[in-house]
Order: sequence, then C-alpha cells, then structure tokens
Amino acid sequence: MKLNIRRPRRNRKNAVIRNLVQENFVSVNDLIYPLFVSSEVKDKQEISSMPGIYRFSKDALLFEVEECLKLGLSAFALFPHISENLKNNEASESWNDKGLYLSTISLLKKNFPEAFIITDVAMDPYSNYGHDGVVKDNEILNDETLEILGKMALAQAQIGANMVAPSDMMDGRVGYIRKILDENGFTNVSIMAYTAKYASGFYGPFRDALDSAPKFGDKKTYQMNPANSREALIELELDTLEGADIVMVKPALSYLDIIHLFRQNSNLPVAAYNVSGEYAMVKAAGQKNWIDEKRVRDEILLSIKRAGADIILTYFAKEWAKDNVLK
Ligand code: PBG
Repeated sequence: MKLNIRRPRRNRKNAVIRNLVQENFVSVNDLIYPLFVSSEVKDKQEISSMPGIYRFSKDALLFEVEECLKLGLSAFALFPHISENLKNNEASESWNDKGLYLSTISLLKKNFPEAFIITDVAMDPYSNYGHDGVVKDNEILNDETLEILGKMALAQAQIGANMVAPSDMMDGRVGYIRKILDENGFTNVSIMAYTAKYASGFYGPFRDALDSAPKFGDKKTYQMNPANSREALIELELDTLEGADIVMVKPALSYLDIIHLFRQNSNLPVAAYNVSGEYAMVKAAGQKNWIDEKRVRDEILLSIKRAGADIILTYFAKEWAKDNVLK
C-alpha cells in the first residue's frame, strides 16, 4: 500500500468538515437587488429575456420591496423604464422630481426608510439616442455629459437616495459628482462607481427591460474593451482619487480576473455586477433542464465572492434569499 502523508480528501470526507474548512460564503448582506420601475405597465410585467424579473409600476414596486425586506434583502439598485416621448438628448426627465424615477425613490424612502436605495446615474434610460452621453454629430460628448450627470445625481440625493451609482463611463464623473454632492451638503451620500465597465454583449436583456438599446453605433468609445485588464487599473486609480466609496467591475463572470485584480490593488470595497445576460443564460438553460439552475446559480455567486468581490449586484438576489435565508 502506498502511504500518502498528504491526503486533501480528509478535509472533504463529510459535510461537517467541509463546512469547517469552507473559505468563501455568500450572505444576503452581500447582495444588491436590481429593480425596474416603469410608467408603462399596470402592476407588473415580466421581461421576456429575464424570466422572474419584472418591470413594476410604482405601486407594485412597494409590495416587491416589502417582500424583499422580509427576506433580509436591504439594498436595491433602481432603474427607470420611461415612455419614449419623454426621452431627449438632455435626459431632462432625469431631474424632474415629479417624474417616475424621483417620485418612486421618494415613495420608497417614505414607506421603507430602512431600504438602502442605490440610484442609477446615466443618461441612457432617458436618452432618445439610447446613449450614456450627450450626442452631437454621432459623437458622445464627455464634459457636456458631466453637467447632466451632476444635476441627475444631485436630484437623486435631494429626494433621498442613499448611494448614487454612475454607470455611464464618462471621464471624470466620479469627481464631478462628488464635488456637486459635497457643495450641496450631501457629504453623506455614497458613490458606487461602475469603475471597470466593459462594452459587453451581456447587457442585451437589460436593454430590453428599459428599451434603452443605442439607436446608432455602440458604446465602445466609453465602455472598456473586453480585451483589456491593465486599463482597468487606470480606471481604478482615477475613481479612487476622485472619491469613489465602492468600485465595481461589470459584467462579473467573464471578468472574474478583473475582480481579483481590483481586490489585490485596492483597499476599497469591490462590487461585481452579475448582469442581465449572465442571468438570462442560466435561466434559459435551466428551463430546458440542461443544467441544475439553482446549483449553477449558487456556484456562480460563490465564484464572484471567491474572485474577491465584497458585494454582488444580481437578479438572483430574491430567489437566492428565498432559498437560503428562511431555512
Ligand atoms: C447603462 C447600464 C447598462 C446596465 C446598467 N446600466 C447597460 C448598458 O451599458 O447599456 C446593464 C445591466 C445589466 O445588463 O444587467 N447605463
């Protein structure tokens, strides 16, 4: 008989020892649940490319948030789906405090002060071009966009947002927003920066949800090239200097190496966005019984934690909480 001194299987021999040596965990406290509010639906409407995810009317959203809070989910990233006729090149609907988005935030905070509301700072849901910046002669203008993002973030802070999350990838926006918030007394409103946001095919279902696909061209002049990782460190350095409280990598799964890179190169909390296309793939294969959906879901969330993320934005948050919290 061959004698092996080292036998790693000893630490796997039953559930107790496996649990004792487990290195990484997903907790409901790590999760942010993205939610879509729409002026165009009564009650709620399922997004066909995202089974189990809905556009909610303002009122229906209250019930959804209440249910999530009971499951232990407390952080929500809210996105607006607005009518096409309100969209323009200034995204003016984004600072209309009677408009859908801001009035929803105010209603949510009034009903559930304990809910942590993360707002989206980007023009695309409000842009007639479906771009994250002001368009002129088919170009996306940077500094003109900053002014709009500043107005948008301030309006969100004024109505009660706990944290603003610029998802646009314009240069300098974190510092610009930080300055405006501070000058207006909102030193307590945090910024979660979409720091390394890649020009990705995985955003398709999200754009279905918001009807926000670009009307011309693509987002490659502002979102990052999927081939690059050193460039992510430049973005990390800038967002850190500009005052980001949390830095994000997006998408998550094809970018686990970037999450790991952030973890090694920053002491800031790292968030990862497990995006719509990543969710849709699991759901589609699950519906066909090609994979064990829940097992794959849990493995994916764990892999994002293992790569180094502290926080995961995921459409799986509610079902994960249902399966894991109330046991
Ligand atoms: C744009 C934005 C996108 C997502 C969040 N904010 C997509 C895009 O850049 O077109 C995608 C999220 C997802 O796919 O789940 N500001």
